[in-house]
Formats: sequence, C-alpha cells, structure tokens
Amino acid sequence: MQGTTAQRWVKRWDRQQEYDIPDREERFRVVIDAVRAAVGTGPANVVDLGCGPGSLSARLAAALPQVHVVGVDADPLLLGLGAANTGPRVRLVQADLGYPSWPERTGLSGPWDAAVSSTALHWLDADTLATLYRTLAERLRPGGVFVNADHMAPGNSTVDHIALAVRAGRTARAGTHRHEGWAQWWQALGEDAELAPLLDGRPPAPIEHTENELTVVEHAELLRASGFAEAAPVWQFGDDHVLVAVR
Ligand SMILES: C[S@@+](CC[C@H](N)C(=O)[O-])C[C@H]1O[C@@H](n2cnc3c(N)ncnc32)[C@H](O)[C@@H]1O
Repeated sequence: MQGTTAQRWVKRWDRQQEYDIPDREERFRVVIDAVRAAVGTGPANVVDLGCGPGSLSARLAAALPQVHVVGVDADPLLLGLGAANTGPRVRLVQADLGYPSWPERTGLSGPWDAAVSSTALHWLDADTLATLYRTLAERLRPGGVFVNADHMAPGNSTVDHIALAVRAGRTARAGTHRHEGWAQWWQALGEDAELAPLLDGRPPAPIEHTENELTVVEHAELLRASGFAEAAPVWQFGDDHVLVAVR
C-alpha cells in the first residue's frame, strides 16, 4: 500500500468520525491541552488506548515535541493505515485491551506519564472497563493522568435530555450528518483493491464488544475506586466528554 493511499483513507476516516462528533478537532485540542498541563513540555511517554489509525497519537506528537506516543488497538487494518500516517515519535501496536496482560504483551509495562483515548472505551463492557481502569492506575506514575474523550451514556435527568438536544442542535448546524458514516466508510474501504492485503489479514470480526452504559459520573466514581486520586470532566458537549483522572 502506498503512503498516499493510507493518508487518503485516514483523512476520510477523520471526516467520517465527525459524523457524530462535529467538534472532534476541538476535542483533540482539549485532550492535548490537558496532557500538556499535566506533564509539562519535557519528555513524556503517553499511551493512546484504542488509537484506530492514530489520529490522536499523531496530533499529540505533533503538538508536544518531547512526547513519545504508543497507540494500542486491536484492529490490524486501522493500525496499518495509521503506520503510514504517523511520525517517528509514534509507535502503533496491536493488542486487545480486554486482556489484562496487554501491557506486558506489548512491552508497555510503564510507568507512563499519561494515557489518552478518544471514542474508543465505550466499546468495553463495564467489567472490562473496570479492569482496564485498575491497570491504568497501576501503570501510570504518581501524578500521571488519564484523559478520556468519549461519549458517555446520558443519565435520565431533565438536564441530561437538554444536553442531548443541545448536541443534536450543534450537529445539525455543523452539517456533519451529511458526511460519510461508519458503515459506508468500511464498505468503501473493502472495495479498494490496494487494501486487499490488509483486509485479508483482518479477522471477520476483530473485536467482539458489548458497550458499557456508564454515565460520566459513574466513570469518575469507577476511576476513583480503581486507584485514581481525582476524576472529573473538563469539557462537555451533550453526552460527549473529556474526562481527566489523576493518579
Ligand atoms: C471509533 S474508533 C476510534 C479510533 C481513534 N481513537 C479515533 O478517535 O479516531 C474505536 C477504536 O477502538 C478500538 N477498540 C475497541 N475495542 C478495543 C479493544 N478491546 N482493544 C483494542 N482496541 C479496541 C477499535 O479497534 C477502534 O479502532
């Protein structure tokens, strides 16, 4: 696969991800600002959980010149696209975050300065997520941070319903529902002959998953119960949050 092909597909991925997240680029900047505020501008190692084709990993490394990022994802095809689209301070490794031993399997035993994630951990069921949060608490250095950008289940209060309406209004104004969606992107990808070698290596269903239904409050409680000293959102758009937890 040519680098330009991978870049074209990652660009198309980024646009597809905006279908439901019109402020995805702003959300990335919030994550980067949070990491910078926590670790400073010196050398730091950061793990990107469920990195996909490395969109956040690449932006982090570009914004913070002393940072080394390891992106972890279970999908070899997305990692293959990302490998051609990320610079020398980004390494992408294949692992299923559902297995508690993923840090050893990938040589990432820590300590890490920060862990980040975007639009990925809602894929994990609540028990798997609790195990992952304990792993992060064990591997992050004291004072290290976990910064998670994701949509989290809305609660059932009147304010939660208003937040969803605010999100729907923003999305309609941004017009991102006219972008290509998730299913169309995967279908188009499957029809690109140049990607056949990557598609051939991909299991038919690489990740079985049951999404958790945790609200942002429940995520913060679970993080504190897992060993983090603090956990609270620093950014919100509807049910979409950037949640920061400090080890
Ligand atoms: C919607 S994509 C987001 C990718 C990327 N973070 C971004 O913002 O563009 C969700 C990603 O989570 C990954 N993922 C989901 N469950 C996983 C697991 N158990 N282990 C590793 N990766 C997982 C998927 O393979 C996919 O790349």
